[in-house]
Formats: sequence, C-alpha cells, structure tokens
Amino acid sequence: MKTTIKNGRVIDPAQNIDAVMDVRIVSGRIEQIGKNLESGADEQVIDATGLVVTPGLVDIHVHLRDPGYEYKEDIVSGTRAAAAGGFTSVACMPNTNPCNDNKAITRYIIQKAQLEGFANVFPICSITKGQKGDSLVEMGDLKLAGCVGFSDDGLNVEDGAMLRHAMEYAHGFAMPIIAHSEDESIKNGGVMNEGALSTELGLSGNPWVSEAASVARDIMLAELTGAHLHVCHISSRRTVELVRAAKQRGVHVTCEVTPHHFTLTEQAVRGYDVNAKVGPPLRTAEDVAAMKEGLRDGTIDAIATDHAPHHIDDKNMEFSYAAYGMIGLETALPLALRLVNEGILSLQEVIALLSYKAAKALGIPRGTLAIGAAADVAILNLEHTWEATRQNIKSRSFNTPFENLSMKGKAVMTLRDGKVMHDEV
Ligand code: DOR
Ligand code: ZN
Ligand code: ZN
Repeated sequence: MKTTIKNGRVIDPAQNIDAVMDVRIVSGRIEQIGKNLESGADEQVIDATGLVVTPGLVDIHVHLRDPGYEYKEDIVSGTRAAAAGGFTSVACMPNTNPCNDNKAITRYIIQKAQLEGFANVFPICSITKGQKGDSLVEMGDLKLAGCVGFSDDGLNVEDGAMLRHAMEYAHGFAMPIIAHSEDESIKNGGVMNEGALSTELGLSGNPWVSEAASVARDIMLAELTGAHLHVCHISSRRTVELVRAAKQRGVHVTCEVTPHHFTLTEQAVRGYDVNAKVGPPLRTAEDVAAMKEGLRDGTIDAIATDHAPHHIDDKNMEFSYAAYGMIGLETALPLALRLVNEGILSLQEVIALLSYKAAKALGIPRGTLAIGAAADVAILNLEHTWEATRQNIKSRSFNTPFENLSMKGKAVMTLRDGKVMHDEV
C-alpha cells in the first residue's frame, strides 16, 4: 500500500523541516519526503494543498477508563477521540478498575488497542499496587509487558520512603516516575484554588503549596536517587520555578502542562461550573502567565491533555462532590495554537511540544516523520473554525468547559501506520 500526501506544508520539528513538500508512505512507513514526488498509478494521493502536515501528535497523559469505567470512555472511543484531535499515540494512566498494576491488565490494554483502537496506546502502570500507596508493583514485569512509566496519577504518593524506593527501582529499569504532585495534607480536601475567589464562592481551597511542596520533595528524591522524575500537569508559578532550578542543577526532571492550565484561570469555576473542576485546580492569571513563560523558555517539556472523561452522573451534582477532570483530546490542538497567535510560541514549537518533545519526555519512540519511522501523520487545517458540541465530539463523555467556545484549527485527517484513522477533509 502506497500513499503520497501532496503539497502540504510539512512541519517536522525533530528534523527541523518546515517547507511545502510531499510525504510518501510505503507499507506503513515514511519512505520519502521531498518536492514534487512522483506517484504511481496505483498509489493513493491525498491533496494537502493549504494544509499543514505534521507527525501524528503524542499525548503522554490520558485516561481511557478501560477496564472498568467504560461508561465514561473505553479504548475504542478514547482512541477515536485521539485521532479526531490529531493524536496517533497516547499514554494512558492506570486508575482503571482493576488498576493497571499487573501485566495482565497491561497486556489487555495493548491488545485491545492493537485490535480495535484508532491510535497507539502506551500504558503507564501504577507505582503502588492498587494505587494504595503501601507496596510497589512488579516494575520489571511491567516494563517487559510494555509499560512506559509508573504513576499513581490521581493520587500523590504520600509516603516519601515508598517513593524513594520506587525511584530506585524505576531508575534501575530506566523508566520514569510520573508524579501527580499534590500533598494531600496541604490540599486538605480543597476543591478549587485557594484564594479570595474560593472564599467568595464558599468552596474549600487547595493552595499552590500542595503542589509545590510535593514537587520540591519529589525533585529532591530524584536528585538523591538519580531517577527520572516526570511531573504531571503543573499548575503553579512556584512549580515552574522549582522545575527550572532543578534542571539547571542537572536533576533528571521533565514536566508537562495541560491546555486548561495555560488557558483558564480559577475564574472558570465561577457559577460553580463542575466542568472546570480539575486536579490540580485551575489557578490565577499569574500562574497562567508562568505556564506560558515555562513553555517559552523550555522548562516545560510537553503539552499533555490529562483527558479525563467523566459521565454526567459523576459530574451533575454540587461542586464539592463532582468528579475531578475534563476531556481534552479534541480541543488540545486549537488551544495550543492560541499560543502562536499570542506570540508566545512559534507553530513549530507548538507542534514539537505536542509531538516529539512529548514523546521524548517519556522515552516513547514516536513523534517524527523521519525516513523509516511509522507513518503516523496528522494533517491540520489551521484556518478551520469550529465549536466543540456533544454531537461532534468523539469521546464518550462531554465534560468540558470549552463547549461553544470558538476553536480555530483542526486535524482534518489522521493516519496511523499509513492508514486513515480520522478523515474530515
Ligand atoms: O482532574 C483530574 N482527573 N486529575 C487527575 O489527576 C485525575 C483525573 C481523573 O482520573 O479523572
Ligand atoms: Zn493527575
Ligand atoms: Zn491524569
């Protein structure tokens, strides 16, 4: 099977390519990139004139809810949402039921994704059994089964000695520890950012210190053990500063930010919008500015969605009781592209943060159109304006505060291994 994507503006930051060219795919791999490539009569030709051709995007932080919570999302619906968002690879978190803390679940996820999925799925398994915080998973087994990292995402690893030992083992296996950093005692049950607004709304506050204190500890433990620490969804100015300083000291730390944490402030919670309830919480304009600065100066390694689908029955209740999280796979690209319009990042930098840099942060071998690489490709229409609605979103859940917001930019076609996974050209 041969396909040529013709006349698109090809942007591959990993190879420093940005030019109008053709991309030729043979047997699911990138065969050739160049100008005016010949294509045989038997070849599929995709006309990308006026469109941007990039590596398939890579989201290193999603919740696919499978097994156990398929009423929110499953591997099929979640990867379909990924493809619609331009993503060809996702790394999925282990807070499923049962938890992905063993190779049987890991194999199930990989197999189901291969058989029925619309994107590559790289499972992340838990750090502690059942994410209960009291005994470590079989890290070697899980690496062999195909996991790409360890995370108790959704929860902080409260016991510092436990995290230290996890880092020692993970380091031995050359695997990252992926931290959801919120000190539980400081968070103290807070459901939104702590400040004047939480007081005004009468909601319990979760201060930035819950994150920064936990990240500070985790960075020190990474320094002690030599392990690779990847900090999830950073939200506060002080956290960016901690990561920046740690990198300068040579600590092996990487981090990601979500589109919601660089787009929205706590003001989105006004009106008690449960779709703006996330962990860590949306913070202040100052924090949002710090996220943008962290993206600009390279402190932040990746944009990752923390796609967290929830059924309306998990959300439709008093703010304090509603589940944490919002979907993100289908709105990430247009929200990230706003950073280009704001003059904070170039288009190439945004694509890099959503592809090879993200993949590199977790050591996933994806995110480039290099010759011989898997033909994972996104074709983007940067001018297309649209709105997220229940009808056009592929995710099984629709918990988003971005409903009816005008979005600019859309993946109009997504190919994985050279096969079309999403098509709205
Ligand atoms: O908002 C969030 N939702 N943050 C998390 O860390 C967990 C996630 C979920 O699983 O719903
Ligand atoms: Zn988390
Ligand atoms: Zn998460």
